Amino acid sequence: MKSKTTIYLILLLAMVSCDSKKEKFVADNFEFAAKQTNLMLDTTKGSVKIPRTIVGGKLYSSGIYDWTSGFFPGTLWYLYEQGLDKELLADAEEFTMRLEPIKKFTGNHDLGFMLYCSFGNGYRLTGNEEYKDILIEGAKSLSTRYIPDAGIIRSWNYRKNWNGKTEWWCPVIIDNMMNLELLFFASKHTGDSSFYDIAVTHARNTMKNHIREDYSSYHVVDYDTKTGAVLDRATCQGFSDNSTWARGQAWGIYGFTMTYRETKCEEFLKVAQGMADFYINNQSLPEDKIPYWDFNVNQEGYVPFWKYDKSRFTEIPRDASAAAVTASALFELATYVNEEDAKRYLEFAESTLLSLGSDSYRAKLGANSCFILEHSVGSIPHGVEIDVPLCYADYYFVEALHRYSQSKK
Ligand code: GLY
Repeated sequence: MKSKTTIYLILLLAMVSCDSKKEKFVADNFEFAAKQTNLMLDTTKGSVKIPRTIVGGKLYSSGIYDWTSGFFPGTLWYLYEQGLDKELLADAEEFTMRLEPIKKFTGNHDLGFMLYCSFGNGYRLTGNEEYKDILIEGAKSLSTRYIPDAGIIRSWNYRKNWNGKTEWWCPVIIDNMMNLELLFFASKHTGDSSFYDIAVTHARNTMKNHIREDYSSYHVVDYDTKTGAVLDRATCQGFSDNSTWARGQAWGIYGFTMTYRETKCEEFLKVAQGMADFYINNQSLPEDKIPYWDFNVNQEGYVPFWKYDKSRFTEIPRDASAAAVTASALFELATYVNEEDAKRYLEFAESTLLSLGSDSYRAKLGANSCFILEHSVGSIPHGVEIDVPLCYADYYFVEALHRYSQSKK
């Protein structure tokens, strides 16, 4: 029989080796991400655009008003924060400042994504007052899209449902939960509670109207701007109006977790956990935890209005971006819940990261147009960005690595 001391020693060794396994994984992935991103920087020298994805086998970069423009600067900030490459600071600052004109943009709701991932991380790490002012002005621009009578921030301007008939005058998408972080920031830094009130009212209405009883989510909800009545519940990037688009569910888990952090209202924690549990326990989730692009593809009772050609896909595409967003969110959610739930969320987030960091999803050095991850989906109904890298998959992957390194797992 082993003595008590021997058992303690074995346990201690197991804990140390677990920890060093985690540290090695994090260090290896950050090192790879820094190298890959430096190669990306070399290839983008001289361009004023911002890396987004691959189109036609080549790197595709966007202008600053694209909803994805904040992610590459944000990735640079996270890599700089690791201290592996101090020179990345200059690049992070330069790419971030490119986005300065966006602070006045009012054309859609994406300001939170664009400004908070770039200037928000920049402010967190440098305390640069200019960044703070830009974030506050951006929050004012975002607030112009708030419709008080309906209690929501309008995501998009007028467009139609895929059915070609139903008109959307005031469409709100689940993604919009992510933009609220910018408003919470502005409220804290100005003392103006109207930013906070807008964010909380929007979150409550999203909770009421976007989330189903089983905590799955609609992608789009269209509102009557005078009464706040719901006019349509539908999808734009998911499989069908009644399905659950994987990235939409991920935005919800992340958005409600963040809203709980900022408000400490239990209702938001409950919905964040419900949405997380729906995702984690979903029967259609593959073993490696990287979801199909929608939880209901090809299932009975789910009929798309867009032109779906099943024969085009030998396998249902996965969405690594949804996995990365969810992993990052779960590392935070785990810090707000009881021990048992925290353990479940941390284990799930860790498994997801292990998959993303494996050869199945992580690119080879210098390949994949120098994006970090492969196998994401932008929008299958639109026929764009199918099984490609996406700058936001990379951003949430490095954020998740950072959160993992700080987690109790
Ligand atoms: N917010 C757009 C998307 O998730 O594709």
